[in-house]
Amino acid sequence: MTTIKQAPVTAHSRVLGIGGVRGENVVSNDDIVGPIDSSDEWIQQRTGIVTRRRAGADVDVIDLSEAAARLALEHAGISAEQLDTVIVSTVTYFRQTPAAATQVADRIGATPAAAYDISAACAGYTYGIAQADALVRSGAAQYVLVIGAEKMSDFIDPTDRSISFLLGDGAGAAVVGPSDFPGIGPSVWGADGSRADLIYQTEDWRSALKSGTWPTLRQEGQSVFKWASFQMVDVARKAIEAAGVTAEDIRAFIPHQANMRIIDQMIKQLKLPDGIAVGRDIAETGNTSAASIPLATERLYRDGQVHSGDLALQIGFGAGLAYGAQVIVLP
Ligand SMILES: CC(C)(COP(=O)(O)OP(=O)(O)OC[C@H]1O[C@@H](n2cnc3c(N)ncnc32)[C@H](O)[C@@H]1OP(=O)(O)O)[C@@H](O)C(=O)NCCC(=O)NCCS
Repeated sequence: MTTIKQAPVTAHSRVLGIGGVRGENVVSNDDIVGPIDSSDEWIQQRTGIVTRRRAGADVDVIDLSEAAARLALEHAGISAEQLDTVIVSTVTYFRQTPAAATQVADRIGATPAAAYDISAACAGYTYGIAQADALVRSGAAQYVLVIGAEKMSDFIDPTDRSISFLLGDGAGAAVVGPSDFPGIGPSVWGADGSRADLIYQTEDWRSALKSGTWPTLRQEGQSVFKWASFQMVDVARKAIEAAGVTAEDIRAFIPHQANMRIIDQMIKQLKLPDGIAVGRDIAETGNTSAASIPLATERLYRDGQVHSGDLALQIGFGAGLAYGAQVIVLP
């Protein structure tokens, strides 16, 4: 048998830079409570959301991705030509094909980087980081751009009380590349398709085209709440253990921005240290699905709450049901 060469492996990977953008319109609770018979007070108490950010009609997932990508590249000090892979995680891009990522790569000047989309909803960013880490260390890529981008407002029903009022638009991005030290702990990720009916699109595209109704999102809020508040704590614990550290070592907790009460519940159960930086971007941005973790990270930097070298625990969870978590060294 003739032997072939395999790509030389790279010992370590890390996140080199992070950036994010939000939809330009600030939508208050009062702006949306009418059709769902709710109130600013109820929404703030039950979710922690004060405003959500939504993009204008002429903005799409590619526009949001491009803007976030440019900021992440700048933060990383990497040029677009150095990228060899671009991954866009989204569930709100309207074309089955071609992937949004190929156009994002073209817009930022990353051609001919490999470019593809992944669909893992609110776990999408952590899935992207898991892939980027594996690609870099396996030698399949050197610099990978991971983008979580969503225009959730295209899938809301103003009369829906289950999820629409939570949702916002935005994109967050991270550049992952080689490192002198371990910068991304083992990813603890998984899915449970037997619970696919807990968060879903009301109709698939084929039946929506036949019926002429626009599909929107729905969820079984209480079941999702319980799953996220309790089962995701085990996943987070496993990610801490897998990274070979303890809860006391974690300096920032950056969970998916689904509900402030879920975030508080997780902090309590994980026994994270007092004074730790916590991603609470949901208050102003709402739930932006795959974009929410990098956006919350970006805000912690802007607010001076995290610093380069801090250990951050990030965990994404949502439709699928799908989840992913890892401890990373912040760039
Ligand atoms: C959606 C969510 C905020 C609803 O909050 P909740 O506390 O579970 O609300 P419940 O469904 O238990 O309903 C409690 C009461 O509020 C009412 N209510 C429900 N939705 C409401 C709304 N949007 N506005 C006002 N009242 C509402 C209910 O009718 C009920 O009234 P009752 O006590 O008179 O019967 C919450 O379940 C949640 O955040 N779930 C998980 C979200 C999540 O993580 N989703 C995305 C994963 S990616």
